[in-house]
Amino acid sequence: MASCYCRPSSPTSTIASPLPSSRLRAVSRSHSDRRIKDNHHDHARQNQTSAGGHSHGLSAPGLRWPGHCPRPVPEPHHGPCCPFSDLHLNSAPWTPPTDLQADIVVLAGDLNVKARGLPWPDARAMFGCDHVLAVAGNHDLFGTSIDDGMDRLRTRLASLGVTLLERDEAVVQGIRFLGCTLWTDVRLFAGADDRLVRADAAMLVGDAYSPHMRDYRQIRVAGDGYRRLRPLDTATLHHQSVEWLEGRLAAPHTGPTIVVTHHAPSARCLPAWAQQDRWSCAYASHLDWLVERYQPDAWCYGHIHDPPPNLAVGRTPLWANPRGHGDSIHDHNPSFDPYGLQQEF
Ligand SMILES: [Fe+2]
Repeated sequence: MASCYCRPSSPTSTIASPLPSSRLRAVSRSHSDRRIKDNHHDHARQNQTSAGGHSHGLSAPGLRWPGHCPRPVPEPHHGPCCPFSDLHLNSAPWTPPTDLQADIVVLAGDLNVKARGLPWPDARAMFGCDHVLAVAGNHDLFGTSIDDGMDRLRTRLASLGVTLLERDEAVVQGIRFLGCTLWTDVRLFAGADDRLVRADAAMLVGDAYSPHMRDYRQIRVAGDGYRRLRPLDTATLHHQSVEWLEGRLAAPHTGPTIVVTHHAPSARCLPAWAQQDRWSCAYASHLDWLVERYQPDAWCYGHIHDPPPNLAVGRTPLWANPRGHGDSIHDHNPSFDPYGLQQEF
């Protein structure tokens, strides 16, 4: 994906660093068929006018803007933004390719368990990038709690150079990232029927004689007597997350906006075999309306380990690059891109 935006020449970044020239070289490598060629420099050059060299990205060929340009000169290029999810490093080790280069790596949850995060002392060095952002997945909190465990995960990841987003916003090189786990409202099939919601929630919790969603056995709520997590907890967090996302998406931002969640924002993210599977209510929610209303520049999600569809809602591409459980051929994504899809802005 390559888009042209006018943004300040010195973008205000809460997490900013100069763009190393080595990062600009990343786009010229050819190890992935999905790599988008570096046409952004050329695009910016073509848009330059002879009247002061300002680029608007909106000029028709031969059309000159007045000598005074009221808008800032846009940055000519953003290097690759690389999404990963569901590395599940507790199930089988994995390390990024040594020749991976990116500006920004986005980890859409399920890195590990017990709030361990990543096993490397410096995540940025491992990914060959300047910034690593992450949201927590449900597995990241297995063996711990959804409240204290999230705090421990945030601290642990920060020590590795990773910024955890849980209803947090980070602006990196002019790109606004809005991140949260999201969880699920358990209404994928139930819709507004509360009786069906309760039935699906009971199915997820299970009992001694039936299957269950492990979230409700493996994750606790420390602030409420260290009890087991309940579907009502995750549904409440889902609604709070959607409310937060809508508020942030409604706020203007000069430059691209990328939403990062672990749970999927659309039923269309599910593989064909799971479209009518009742358990899918734990994986995706109907947030197409939110995507269509605010049209972020991308939405990055995880949680679903099947090869992701090439998907967009409106003009918003939905990115997913899950690894899956690396030790199981039945739960491993054969289309996992260890180079992180190399998405460009
Ligand atoms: Fe996962």
